[in-house]
Amino acid sequence: MGTGVACAIITHACAAYAIDWTRAVGKDIVLFYPAQMSWETLLTQSSHSGAQKFRDGKNCRGCHEGEEPASGKLLVNDKGSEPTPIAGKPGSIKATVKAAHDAERIYVQVGFDTGAQPDAGMDKDFATKVAVMIDDGGVPEAARAGCFAACHDNLARMPSGGEGDTTKYLARSRVSVGRHGGDQIKPAEDLATARAQGSTLEYWQARLRASGPAEVVDGTILEKRQESAPSAVSAEAVQNGTKWTVTFSRKLAAGPGYKDFAPGKTYTLGVSVHAGHTAKRFHYVSLEKTLVLDTGKADIIAPRM
Ligand code: HEC
Repeated sequence: MGTGVACAIITHACAAYAIDWTRAVGKDIVLFYPAQMSWETLLTQSSHSGAQKFRDGKNCRGCHEGEEPASGKLLVNDKGSEPTPIAGKPGSIKATVKAAHDAERIYVQVGFDTGAQPDAGMDKDFATKVAVMIDDGGVPEAARAGCFAACHDNLARMPSGGEGDTTKYLARSRVSVGRHGGDQIKPAEDLATARAQGSTLEYWQARLRASGPAEVVDGTILEKRQESAPSAVSAEAVQNGTKWTVTFSRKLAAGPGYKDFAPGKTYTLGVSVHAGHTAKRFHYVSLEKTLVLDTGKADIIAPRM
Protein backbone atom coordinates (compact mmCIF):
# COMPACT_ATOMS: atom_id res chain seq x y z
CA MET A 1 0.00 0.00 0.00
CA GLY A 2 1.17 3.48 -0.74
CA THR A 3 0.78 6.38 1.56
CA GLY A 4 -1.05 9.65 1.49
CA VAL A 5 -4.53 10.95 2.02
CA ALA A 6 -5.84 9.68 -1.31
CA CYS A 7 -5.03 6.12 -0.31
CA ALA A 8 -7.76 6.23 2.32
CA ILE A 9 -10.23 5.57 -0.49
CA ILE A 10 -8.82 2.87 -2.70
CA THR A 11 -9.18 -0.75 -3.56
CA HIS A 12 -6.49 -3.38 -3.91
CA ALA A 13 -3.38 -1.26 -4.04
CA CYS A 14 -2.11 2.26 -4.32
CA ALA A 15 -0.10 1.48 -7.46
CA ALA A 16 -1.54 4.34 -9.57
CA TYR A 17 0.01 6.85 -7.24
CA ALA A 18 3.41 5.90 -8.58
CA ILE A 19 2.27 7.57 -11.82
CA ASP A 20 3.34 11.13 -12.49
CA TRP A 21 0.05 12.32 -13.99
CA THR A 22 1.54 15.67 -14.99
CA ARG A 23 3.31 13.74 -17.78
CA ALA A 24 0.03 12.52 -19.29
CA VAL A 25 -2.00 14.95 -21.41
CA GLY A 26 -5.69 15.01 -20.48
CA LYS A 27 -8.39 14.78 -23.14
CA ASP A 28 -11.43 16.88 -22.31
CA ILE A 29 -14.67 15.23 -23.37
CA VAL A 30 -18.38 15.76 -22.83
CA LEU A 31 -20.62 12.92 -21.67
CA PHE A 32 -24.21 13.38 -22.82
CA TYR A 33 -27.55 11.86 -21.92
CA PRO A 34 -28.48 9.42 -24.74
CA ALA A 35 -32.12 8.69 -23.76
CA GLN A 36 -33.33 5.71 -25.84
CA MET A 37 -31.12 6.25 -28.91
CA SER A 38 -30.39 2.62 -29.73
CA TRP A 39 -28.19 1.12 -32.43
CA GLU A 40 -31.36 0.24 -34.37
CA THR A 41 -32.80 3.77 -34.12
CA LEU A 42 -29.47 5.24 -35.23
CA LEU A 43 -29.35 2.93 -38.26
CA THR A 44 -32.89 3.84 -39.34
CA GLN A 45 -32.92 6.82 -41.70
CA SER A 46 -36.49 7.89 -40.84
CA SER A 47 -35.52 8.07 -37.13
CA HIS A 48 -31.99 9.51 -37.52
CA SER A 49 -30.88 11.53 -40.49
CA GLY A 50 -27.25 10.40 -39.99
CA ALA A 51 -28.18 6.73 -40.60
CA GLN A 52 -27.29 6.40 -44.28
CA LYS A 53 -24.05 8.35 -43.98
CA PHE A 54 -23.08 6.23 -40.97
CA ARG A 55 -23.77 3.09 -43.00
CA ASP A 56 -21.68 4.60 -45.80
CA GLY A 57 -18.70 4.93 -43.48
CA LYS A 58 -18.90 8.19 -41.54
CA ASN A 59 -18.36 7.62 -37.82
CA CYS A 60 -20.58 9.11 -35.10
CA ARG A 61 -17.95 11.62 -34.03
CA GLY A 62 -17.61 12.81 -37.62
CA CYS A 63 -20.99 14.52 -37.26
CA HIS A 64 -21.47 14.86 -33.51
CA GLU A 65 -18.18 15.88 -31.90
CA GLY A 66 -18.69 19.27 -30.28
CA GLU A 67 -22.47 18.82 -30.34
CA GLU A 68 -22.69 16.67 -27.19
CA PRO A 69 -24.01 19.42 -24.86
CA ALA A 70 -26.76 20.30 -27.34
CA SER A 71 -27.66 16.63 -27.94
CA GLY A 72 -27.81 15.93 -24.20
CA LYS A 73 -29.92 19.00 -23.52
CA LEU A 74 -32.36 17.96 -26.22
CA LEU A 75 -32.56 14.25 -25.32
CA VAL A 76 -32.92 14.59 -21.54
CA ASN A 77 -36.42 16.05 -22.02
CA ASP A 78 -37.32 14.89 -25.52
CA LYS A 79 -40.70 13.15 -25.49
CA GLY A 80 -39.84 11.17 -28.61
CA SER A 81 -36.71 9.53 -27.19
CA GLU A 82 -37.22 9.83 -23.43
CA PRO A 83 -40.60 8.54 -22.20
CA THR A 84 -39.63 8.82 -18.51
CA PRO A 85 -37.55 11.97 -18.03
CA ILE A 86 -35.90 12.70 -14.68
CA ALA A 87 -36.98 16.18 -13.57
CA GLY A 88 -34.11 18.63 -13.32
CA LYS A 89 -31.53 16.28 -14.84
CA PRO A 90 -28.64 18.08 -16.57
CA GLY A 91 -28.18 17.02 -20.21
CA SER A 92 -24.41 16.55 -20.08
CA ILE A 93 -21.35 16.59 -17.83
CA LYS A 94 -17.67 17.28 -18.50
CA ALA A 95 -14.88 14.80 -18.07
CA THR A 96 -11.13 14.60 -18.63
CA VAL A 97 -9.48 11.31 -19.55
CA LYS A 98 -5.80 10.50 -19.08
CA ALA A 99 -3.91 7.25 -19.46
CA ALA A 100 -0.44 5.95 -18.71
CA HIS A 101 1.37 2.65 -18.48
CA ASP A 102 4.48 1.13 -16.99
CA ALA A 103 6.16 -2.19 -17.73
CA GLU A 104 3.30 -4.11 -16.14
CA ARG A 105 0.13 -2.12 -15.97
CA ILE A 106 -2.22 0.23 -17.83
CA TYR A 107 -3.81 3.14 -15.94
CA VAL A 108 -6.87 5.02 -17.16
CA GLN A 109 -7.93 8.06 -15.20
CA VAL A 110 -11.35 9.67 -15.57
CA GLY A 111 -11.90 13.01 -13.86
CA PHE A 112 -15.46 14.32 -13.97
CA ASP A 113 -17.86 16.69 -12.28
CA THR A 114 -21.47 15.53 -11.93
CA GLY A 115 -22.59 19.00 -10.80
CA ALA A 116 -25.89 19.15 -8.92
CA GLN A 117 -27.99 16.09 -9.73
CA PRO A 118 -31.56 15.19 -8.79
CA ASP A 119 -31.84 11.88 -6.87
CA ALA A 120 -33.48 9.43 -9.26
CA GLY A 121 -33.74 6.78 -6.52
CA MET A 122 -32.94 3.88 -8.90
CA ASP A 123 -29.65 2.80 -7.32
CA LYS A 124 -29.97 3.20 -3.57
CA ASP A 125 -26.40 2.09 -2.85
CA PHE A 126 -24.41 4.21 -5.26
CA ALA A 127 -25.01 7.81 -6.25
CA THR A 128 -22.21 7.75 -8.80
CA LYS A 129 -20.67 5.06 -11.03
CA VAL A 130 -18.11 5.47 -13.79
CA ALA A 131 -17.25 2.96 -16.51
CA VAL A 132 -15.07 2.56 -19.55
CA MET A 133 -15.77 0.23 -22.46
CA ILE A 134 -12.78 -0.94 -24.45
CA ASP A 135 -12.21 -2.40 -27.88
CA ASP A 136 -8.91 -3.29 -29.53
CA GLY A 137 -10.18 -3.70 -33.09
CA GLY A 138 -11.98 -6.98 -32.42
CA VAL A 139 -15.36 -5.27 -32.78
CA PRO A 140 -15.18 -2.93 -35.81
CA GLU A 141 -18.56 -1.29 -35.11
CA ALA A 142 -17.26 -0.19 -31.69
CA ALA A 143 -14.39 1.68 -33.36
CA ARG A 144 -17.04 3.52 -35.38
CA ALA A 145 -19.73 4.03 -32.75
CA GLY A 146 -18.22 3.35 -29.31
CA CYS A 147 -20.75 2.26 -26.70
CA PHE A 148 -23.66 2.59 -29.14
CA ALA A 149 -22.51 -0.68 -30.75
CA ALA A 150 -23.82 -2.48 -27.64
CA CYS A 151 -27.00 -0.47 -27.07
CA HIS A 152 -30.05 -2.14 -28.55
CA ASP A 153 -33.75 -1.46 -28.78
CA ASN A 154 -34.66 -4.55 -26.72
CA LEU A 155 -32.39 -3.92 -23.69
CA ALA A 156 -33.97 -3.40 -20.28
CA ARG A 157 -35.79 -0.01 -20.15
CA MET A 158 -35.33 0.49 -23.88
CA PRO A 159 -38.39 0.76 -26.18
CA SER A 160 -38.93 -2.98 -26.75
CA GLY A 161 -37.03 -4.21 -23.68
CA GLY A 162 -39.45 -2.85 -21.10
CA GLU A 163 -39.09 -4.25 -17.61
CA GLY A 164 -37.05 -7.21 -18.88
CA ASP A 165 -33.45 -7.86 -17.96
CA THR A 166 -31.71 -8.04 -21.34
CA THR A 167 -28.25 -6.51 -20.92
CA LYS A 168 -25.95 -4.98 -23.51
CA TYR A 169 -24.93 -7.26 -26.38
CA LEU A 170 -23.26 -7.16 -29.78
CA ALA A 171 -25.24 -7.69 -32.98
CA ARG A 172 -22.84 -10.50 -33.97
CA SER A 173 -24.20 -12.61 -31.08
CA ARG A 174 -27.69 -12.69 -32.61
CA VAL A 175 -29.06 -14.84 -35.44
CA SER A 176 -30.48 -11.63 -36.89
CA VAL A 177 -31.07 -8.07 -35.77
CA GLY A 178 -34.10 -6.07 -36.90
CA ARG A 179 -35.59 -2.71 -35.97
CA HIS A 180 -36.19 -3.97 -32.42
CA GLY A 181 -32.83 -5.67 -31.95
CA GLY A 182 -32.33 -9.42 -31.94
CA ASP A 183 -33.84 -11.95 -29.55
CA GLN A 184 -32.39 -15.20 -30.83
CA ILE A 185 -28.85 -15.84 -29.57
CA LYS A 186 -26.46 -17.78 -31.82
CA PRO A 187 -25.41 -21.32 -30.81
CA ALA A 188 -22.80 -21.68 -28.07
CA GLU A 189 -20.08 -22.80 -30.49
CA ASP A 190 -20.48 -19.61 -32.56
CA LEU A 191 -20.15 -17.52 -29.41
CA ALA A 192 -17.08 -19.49 -28.37
CA THR A 193 -15.50 -18.80 -31.76
CA ALA A 194 -16.27 -15.08 -31.45
CA ARG A 195 -14.73 -15.03 -27.98
CA ALA A 196 -11.64 -16.87 -29.19
CA GLN A 197 -11.27 -14.27 -31.97
CA GLY A 198 -11.48 -11.44 -29.45
CA SER A 199 -14.80 -10.20 -30.85
CA THR A 200 -15.98 -8.95 -27.48
CA LEU A 201 -15.91 -5.63 -25.68
CA GLU A 202 -14.32 -5.26 -22.28
CA TYR A 203 -15.71 -2.98 -19.59
CA TRP A 204 -14.56 -1.72 -16.21
CA GLN A 205 -16.86 -0.05 -13.72
CA ALA A 206 -16.16 1.67 -10.39
CA ARG A 207 -19.12 2.15 -8.08
CA LEU A 208 -18.21 5.08 -5.89
CA ARG A 209 -18.79 5.63 -2.22
CA ALA A 210 -18.58 8.91 -0.34
CA SER A 211 -16.35 7.10 2.12
CA GLY A 212 -14.67 3.73 1.85
CA PRO A 213 -13.27 1.98 -1.20
CA ALA A 214 -14.90 1.95 -4.61
CA GLU A 215 -16.47 -1.34 -5.70
CA VAL A 216 -14.88 -2.44 -8.97
CA VAL A 217 -16.26 -4.86 -11.53
CA ASP A 218 -15.08 -5.78 -14.98
CA GLY A 219 -16.38 -8.03 -17.68
CA THR A 220 -17.09 -8.64 -21.34
CA ILE A 221 -19.93 -8.01 -23.73
CA LEU A 222 -20.86 -10.46 -26.47
CA GLU A 223 -24.28 -12.10 -26.10
CA LYS A 224 -24.73 -10.33 -22.76
CA ARG A 225 -22.87 -8.30 -20.18
CA GLN A 226 -20.90 -10.88 -18.29
CA GLU A 227 -18.96 -10.03 -15.16
CA SER A 228 -15.50 -11.54 -14.64
CA ALA A 229 -14.70 -13.00 -11.23
CA PRO A 230 -12.40 -12.23 -9.64
CA SER A 231 -11.96 -8.79 -11.19
CA ALA A 232 -8.54 -8.08 -12.72
CA VAL A 233 -9.13 -4.36 -12.39
CA SER A 234 -8.54 -2.08 -9.43
CA ALA A 235 -9.65 1.50 -9.01
CA GLU A 236 -8.82 4.41 -6.79
CA ALA A 237 -11.32 7.18 -6.30
CA VAL A 238 -10.81 10.63 -4.91
CA GLN A 239 -13.79 12.89 -4.28
CA ASN A 240 -13.88 16.64 -3.96
CA GLY A 241 -17.49 17.83 -3.70
CA THR A 242 -19.23 16.88 -6.96
CA LYS A 243 -15.85 16.20 -8.60
CA TRP A 244 -14.33 12.75 -8.79
CA THR A 245 -10.99 11.48 -10.03
CA VAL A 246 -11.11 7.75 -10.62
CA THR A 247 -8.04 5.81 -11.71
CA PHE A 248 -8.56 2.33 -13.13
CA SER A 249 -5.65 -0.04 -13.46
CA ARG A 250 -4.92 -3.58 -14.50
CA LYS A 251 -2.11 -5.66 -15.93
CA LEU A 252 -1.32 -4.91 -19.60
CA ALA A 253 -1.93 -8.59 -20.26
CA ALA A 254 -4.58 -9.81 -17.83
CA GLY A 255 -5.25 -13.23 -19.32
CA PRO A 256 -7.94 -14.88 -21.46
CA GLY A 257 -10.98 -12.70 -22.15
CA TYR A 258 -9.06 -9.49 -21.53
CA LYS A 259 -7.71 -7.21 -24.24
CA ASP A 260 -3.91 -7.06 -24.29
CA PHE A 261 -2.59 -3.50 -24.15
CA ALA A 262 0.50 -2.96 -26.29
CA PRO A 263 2.16 -0.09 -28.21
CA GLY A 264 1.34 0.14 -31.92
CA LYS A 265 -2.33 -0.71 -31.60
CA THR A 266 -5.31 1.68 -31.51
CA TYR A 267 -7.95 1.11 -28.86
CA THR A 268 -11.44 2.58 -28.72
CA LEU A 269 -12.74 3.82 -25.40
CA GLY A 270 -16.29 4.72 -24.48
CA VAL A 271 -16.85 6.39 -21.13
CA SER A 272 -20.05 6.48 -19.08
CA VAL A 273 -21.13 8.02 -15.79
CA HIS A 274 -24.24 7.23 -13.79
CA ALA A 275 -24.96 10.23 -11.56
CA GLY A 276 -27.79 11.03 -9.16
CA HIS A 277 -28.54 7.42 -8.10
CA THR A 278 -29.49 6.29 -11.61
CA ALA A 279 -29.23 2.78 -13.07
CA LYS A 280 -29.28 1.06 -16.45
CA ARG A 281 -29.67 3.37 -19.47
CA PHE A 282 -30.12 6.54 -17.37
CA HIS A 283 -26.45 7.48 -17.69
CA TYR A 284 -24.20 9.91 -19.55
CA VAL A 285 -22.07 8.51 -22.37
CA SER A 286 -19.24 9.63 -24.62
CA LEU A 287 -18.80 9.30 -28.33
CA GLU A 288 -16.03 6.90 -29.45
CA LYS A 289 -12.52 7.97 -28.33
CA THR A 290 -9.17 6.48 -29.31
CA LEU A 291 -6.22 5.47 -27.16
CA VAL A 292 -2.66 4.46 -28.01
CA LEU A 293 0.32 3.56 -25.86
CA ASP A 294 3.54 5.63 -26.14
CA THR A 295 3.16 7.46 -29.46
CA GLY A 296 0.70 7.74 -32.30
CA LYS A 297 -2.42 9.58 -33.35
CA ALA A 298 -5.24 9.29 -30.83
CA ASP A 299 -7.40 11.27 -28.44
CA ILE A 300 -5.56 9.81 -25.49
CA ILE A 301 -1.86 8.89 -25.48
CA ALA A 302 -0.70 6.71 -22.61
CA PRO A 303 2.97 7.54 -22.02
CA ARG A 304 5.29 5.01 -20.48
CA MET A 305 6.22 5.93 -16.92
C1 HEC B 1 -23.82 12.19 -41.39
C2 HEC B 1 -23.87 12.75 -40.07
C3 HEC B 1 -24.27 11.88 -38.92
C4 HEC B 1 -23.71 10.70 -38.51
C5 HEC B 1 -22.58 9.91 -39.14
C6 HEC B 1 -24.37 10.34 -37.30
N1 HEC B 1 -25.32 11.26 -37.00
FE1 HEC B 1 -26.46 11.35 -35.33
N2 HEC B 1 -27.51 12.89 -36.05
C7 HEC B 1 -27.22 13.57 -37.22
C8 HEC B 1 -28.20 14.62 -37.41
C9 HEC B 1 -28.24 15.58 -38.58
C10 HEC B 1 -29.07 14.56 -36.31
C11 HEC B 1 -30.28 15.45 -36.01
C12 HEC B 1 -31.49 15.08 -36.81
C13 HEC B 1 -32.01 13.71 -36.53
O1 HEC B 1 -32.22 13.36 -35.35
O2 HEC B 1 -32.20 12.97 -37.48
C14 HEC B 1 -28.61 13.47 -35.48
C15 HEC B 1 -29.20 13.11 -34.29
C16 HEC B 1 -28.59 12.28 -33.36
C17 HEC B 1 -29.00 12.13 -31.99
C18 HEC B 1 -30.18 12.81 -31.33
C19 HEC B 1 -29.74 14.05 -30.59
C20 HEC B 1 -29.46 15.20 -31.49
O3 HEC B 1 -28.43 15.85 -31.30
O4 HEC B 1 -30.27 15.50 -32.39
C21 HEC B 1 -28.11 11.26 -31.42
C22 HEC B 1 -28.06 10.80 -29.97
C23 HEC B 1 -27.20 10.83 -32.44
N3 HEC B 1 -27.51 11.46 -33.62
C24 HEC B 1 -26.18 9.93 -32.24
C25 HEC B 1 -25.40 9.40 -33.28
C26 HEC B 1 -24.54 8.25 -33.13
C27 HEC B 1 -24.30 7.51 -31.84
C28 HEC B 1 -24.00 8.02 -34.35
C29 HEC B 1 -23.10 6.87 -34.77
C30 HEC B 1 -23.71 5.57 -34.68
C31 HEC B 1 -24.48 9.06 -35.24
N4 HEC B 1 -25.36 9.85 -34.56
C32 HEC B 1 -24.07 9.21 -36.55
C33 HEC B 1 -26.15 13.31 -38.05
C34 HEC B 1 -25.30 12.21 -37.96
